[in-house]
Amino acid sequence: MDTTVAIRWLREKFNAEVYTVTVDVGQEDDFSKIEERAYKAGAVQHFYIDAKRDFADEYIARAVLMNGMYEGVYPLGTALARPLIAAKAIEVARRVGADAVAHGSTSKGNDQVRFDVTVKALAPDLKIIAPARIWGMTRAEEIEYARRHGLPIGEEHKKYSIDDNLWTRSIEGGPLDDPMAEPGEDAFKWTVSPEKAPHEPAYITIGFKDGVPTSINGEKMDMVSLVAALNQIAGSHGVGRIDHVENRLVGFKSREVYEAPAAVVLFHAHRDLEKLVLTPRELRFKHHVLDPQWADLVYQGLWVEPLRTALEKAAEEMERWVTGEVRVKLYKGSVQVVGRDSPYGGYSRELADYSAGWYPSDEEARGFIEMWSLHSLTALRRRRPEK
Ligand code: ARG
Ligand code: SIN
Repeated sequence: MDTTVAIRWLREKFNAEVYTVTVDVGQEDDFSKIEERAYKAGAVQHFYIDAKRDFADEYIARAVLMNGMYEGVYPLGTALARPLIAAKAIEVARRVGADAVAHGSTSKGNDQVRFDVTVKALAPDLKIIAPARIWGMTRAEEIEYARRHGLPIGEEHKKYSIDDNLWTRSIEGGPLDDPMAEPGEDAFKWTVSPEKAPHEPAYITIGFKDGVPTSINGEKMDMVSLVAALNQIAGSHGVGRIDHVENRLVGFKSREVYEAPAAVVLFHAHRDLEKLVLTPRELRFKHHVLDPQWADLVYQGLWVEPLRTALEKAAEEMERWVTGEVRVKLYKGSVQVVGRDSPYGGYSRELADYSAGWYPSDEEARGFIEMWSLHSLTALRRRRPEK
């Protein structure tokens, strides 16, 4: 509704010629209806851009590589798509010779930051107009404005505010604004409730190459199809519901609900393969430093920040060995890794086996433990309180 109203408002306020852009990042929308609405609201020309491949290969693949989960649980679907949408809108702006770009975000959200920062980075000469930040209309006034101008809206009675794409379905608002209230079943679309999930588990094997998923059950798949297939199967087992009180970058907490079956499965599978392959030092550095830093940057609208690519470069150096297979079990809302294998795995059965194989001698073990604990024991002795 905001963007439809904005078309008319931009013409009225700035006498602007408005070109509209819809970027397809895998959202479930009726794109011909959107186009029709754009023209009815007064757009000069509408552009539809299919960016599903770009989104999957350039954004989702990196999110898997970096175990991208904001505050440990949000797979960043909305946050990842915004810079891509902005970049595509800028391409259109260049094609039509625009001197400004406009978007429908409000001043309370994260999205305005993600859009604005991307435009400022890629096209500093373009003016940015966020009509909803300027017009000062309440929701009711907007509806009234639309009515007065005969604008085609129709979503004014929707219960939730939803943003979806190939990676994540973000649900907020309405009854969810009470953080104590359990989300109603009507909030969900990609997942069945765990109670209604099949009584038989599903087992799937995910193949990874260089830290990126490339196959399901041995069948090679491109990223778009792989994510779509995983959403389907994991969602049908009730996997991928997330209920989160989130620290927005704009200074307050909000209750957010997500559906992201593929993201949740890939997160668990990928991290598990990393545990098999990476050295303990690499593993800790990646999981404790690189991954959460990356997720924060992406969430906070700083996709363009040089550190983001630097973090990826550091990760890629280690991920060259994160190749192999992970077997997961999906059952009534849970995902469990039940097997993993890699030609580069650091696991050695000979070393791990208690019943046979190599054993250090008593003397070797004592010497090791002596030096291993020396820092701690020295400090403890020094710090013992004097009597
Ligand atoms: N809280 C999430 C984020 O900031 C999802 C936002 C959903 N956006 C929306 N317009 N409904 O990335
Ligand atoms: C918005 O930006 O208007 C949507 C809310 C959000 O960013 O989380």
